[in-house]
Amino acid sequence: MNASPTPVIVDCDPGHDDVFGLWLAAGHPSLDLRAVTTVGGNVPLEFTRHNARVALTVAGVHDVPVAAGASGPLVRPLQTAEWIHGANGLGGPDLPEPTVPLDPRTATELMVDVLAEASEPVAIVATGPITNVAVLLRDRPDLVGRIREVVWMGGSTERGNATPYAEFNALVDPEALDLVVRSGVPFTMVGLNVTHSALVTPAVRERVAAIPTRTGAFGDELLDFFCRTNDEVFGMPDGPLHDPVAVAVLADPACVRTVRTRLDVELAGTETAGATSVDFDGMLGREPNASVAVALDVPRFWDTMIGALARLA
Ligand code: BDR
Ligand code: CA
Repeated sequence: MNASPTPVIVDCDPGHDDVFGLWLAAGHPSLDLRAVTTVGGNVPLEFTRHNARVALTVAGVHDVPVAAGASGPLVRPLQTAEWIHGANGLGGPDLPEPTVPLDPRTATELMVDVLAEASEPVAIVATGPITNVAVLLRDRPDLVGRIREVVWMGGSTERGNATPYAEFNALVDPEALDLVVRSGVPFTMVGLNVTHSALVTPAVRERVAAIPTRTGAFGDELLDFFCRTNDEVFGMPDGPLHDPVAVAVLADPACVRTVRTRLDVELAGTETAGATSVDFDGMLGREPNASVAVALDVPRFWDTMIGALARLA
């Protein structure tokens, strides 16, 4: 008999790949998407909170509340990534006016309500700067036990993509990442070392384009733009679709291999702020405090992603 679906909150900054993360969470039968919260990241909050509602509207998902959270990081000014995602965060397709409303609660209020109402601990997947989760854990540390785990797309065991050593989500709000990792909540980092394998190849593009739905067509237009900007900026014409890999950790854990290890984040470095230090070899003699993704089953991941996409409107 199948286990009941895992209740999940997605916290995001859409962003092309965030949209695919939302769609995976909404369309996969192993997940029960309870809420979506948004954060300033790839583009300012006024766009990300709108884009999350566009993503759910396109996919015909009308029963999931969407709330706005932090407009910027805990202590630093916001850095954005229009160079990848376009001025509005979802360059490419014409965006329909969302019919999914913006919930009047803040992201923290919505998360608190979802955690309180659930009969079991709820997972949180964060696919942007992890500010909203940090605010929740800072203001309501009593709720740690209500959170099944936090899975975050960000960081890297290798080099960065926003500075030589920092991945974008980690660079934007390293203090938030530090707070979450120290909070005691079970934490998994899904970094560039793994998401750089989730390449949108021509074969993947064909599979998405062949889905005969509004979501398939919209997704194809998103990927067209995303692959173009990744080619221009990184020389990667098969753009890496980072964010749904973190959702896949919950939807189909066999997609991603993780190891239990020590994770710290650089807060003070003049050149390395936001770098994630992953001590696989225990050189620092510190207790392991996180799971870190180290390998992706690429065909299985795309089957999972595209299967979920095909279940949407
Ligand atoms: C991360 O940064 C953003 O641009 C993407 O949405 C993803 O969350 C990759 O570094
Ligand atoms: Ca993102």
